[in-house]
Amino acid sequence: MRNIVVLTGAGVSAESGVATFRGPDGLWEGHRVEDVATPHAFERDPALVHAFYDARRAKLGTVEPNGAHAALARLDAEWPGELLIVTQNVDDLHERAGTKRLLHMHGELKKGWCLACGERFPWDGPMGENSLNAVRPEPVEGLSFFSNEQRKSSPSTMTKTDHPPDGPGLSSSGRTDVRGTSVRTSSGRTEVGICEAVNICPSCNAVGRVRPDIVWFGEMPYAMERIDEALMRCDLFVSIGTSGAVYPAAGFVQTARYCGAHCVEINLEPSLGSYFFHESRIGKAGELVPQWVDEVLAA
Ligand code: APR
Repeated sequence: MRNIVVLTGAGVSAESGVATFRGPDGLWEGHRVEDVATPHAFERDPALVHAFYDARRAKLGTVEPNGAHAALARLDAEWPGELLIVTQNVDDLHERAGTKRLLHMHGELKKGWCLACGERFPWDGPMGENSLNAVRPEPVEGLSFFSNEQRKSSPSTMTKTDHPPDGPGLSSSGRTDVRGTSVRTSSGRTEVGICEAVNICPSCNAVGRVRPDIVWFGEMPYAMERIDEALMRCDLFVSIGTSGAVYPAAGFVQTARYCGAHCVEINLEPSLGSYFFHESRIGKAGELVPQWVDEVLAA
């Protein structure tokens, strides 16, 4: 056996303290997935969507990879054949555990995508407007604030001051440690945009045009061609911690099985596509994945 494809889902990060998507009533941290994970939701209420992903991005700083991530990183380091770990997760726990042969098919929390210039880039910290208040405890004179409604009807999304503002969290020297709190323009003036102040494209400097680089419902997952090729070539397909509710990932098992792979699922409960797997190992990923990796490496 030489070629392995591993698919991971939210269950692989559950023991690290990252919430899964499909709880008993289909809610996720108080939101319906459709309210925060579709392009339409972002158009309708960008502040809500940004706040949702900002909170998730901030949460990453408080969690650590668990035994399942570590075991998969060991498999990556030691498996001499082909291996592709495809994750639906947007957290960075696989890479923090050391996995290299990894694809994020649903995007990454720590990346931004500029809707003005099309660039994608690493992103740390908040992207939305609400988070700025946390670092600007005092109102700063001379700055005005836009509500979402005002922003839509305003020709400019920034207020301008003639002098660099000072105050907690603000600096006159161009970009500050708070992304884009102030921006030095070509005329040498400092413009301050509160609503989008944390949201400036590092590539084209567009303000307020960066969205989370997350694949929302109705959008095309990343690297599908490469994933399909790997599925068609693999001898072993393993699905870990995913409910099998979201396509195309939920259909990977069918492709792999049709092309002759042995198919194993490791999940807390049988997934929706459980029927397609040769083997179901039911239990916690943090316990079962290290055991499975030991078996594979010993075989
Ligand atoms: N070990 C193994 N499995 C677990 C654990 C655990 N410790 N905890 C939970 N699970 C299982 C659950 O039983 C469930 O079947 O993980 C699965 C998680 O399912 P979902 O919450 O639906 O997550 P996922 O399958 O990754 O969702 C797919 O849906 O909303 C979209 O884009 C989002 O990538 C996500 C996609």
